Amino acid sequence: MYLNNQRDKWDLVHSIERLRLKYPSEQVVRFIKSNFSSDISNTRILDLGCGSGRHVAYLLGAGYQVAGMDISQESVACTQSIIASNGWSADVVQGSMTQLPYKDQSFDGLICHGVLLYLKVIDIQAAINEMFRVMKPGARALIVVRSVKDMRYGKGDELGDNTFLITDNFTNEEGMVMHFFTEEEIRSLFASFTNVQVGISEMSMKSLEDYNSDYIIIVTK
Ligand SMILES: C[S@@+](CC[C@H](N)C(=O)[O-])C[C@H]1O[C@@H](n2cnc3c(N)ncnc32)[C@H](O)[C@@H]1O
Repeated sequence: MYLNNQRDKWDLVHSIERLRLKYPSEQVVRFIKSNFSSDISNTRILDLGCGSGRHVAYLLGAGYQVAGMDISQESVACTQSIIASNGWSADVVQGSMTQLPYKDQSFDGLICHGVLLYLKVIDIQAAINEMFRVMKPGARALIVVRSVKDMRYGKGDELGDNTFLITDNFTNEEGMVMHFFTEEEIRSLFASFTNVQVGISEMSMKSLEDYNSDYIIIVTK
């Protein structure tokens, strides 16, 4: 199944020290500060697809209760080692976001930064349904995905529905399934949430023509 292939690719990426992201994204910091600034020690945040642990570390350092999950065992080990070396405690587990190991209505907030795009559309909807299930009523989530204007669009074999098997290794993502979103699609996928806000963030990479194009999505349950 393609998810096992994605997991193996991510295990490889996370095993290379220089590819591990270390600093939290500005979008995550702004989202957390503007939505969860009171009663921090009683606020439970889930980081879905926690990668090398940069946001788990940011959240624990700021005093939140944190849970993390990722499909890659290397990611989980890396995140757990940051937690242990700082004397923190948090529940970080391996699994797929299409089937979350948490009870209904467990979290006050959720972040999912650069993860959903590695799924096929059918699994993206399953993952969003799971997000909805584990969020408390009124909880807010930040989700970052790639838009159809991103520089990686079309650099691979088309699997349909703006989804490609990437064959270019410029960003170490060769061999990964990647889905590119439109705003209309985002609004349809997140239809069960209220107050769906969709913004765009674009950043040049190696030239002005080669840029990351991300949708920044904030939703309320
Ligand atoms: C680009 S990294 C982003 C990591 C982290 N969110 C960050 O911003 O640093 C994508 C992560 O998604 C994870 N991932 C991919 N598919 C997943 C799935 N089905 N369930 C959970 N995690 C997944 C990968 O293992 C990888 O760690």
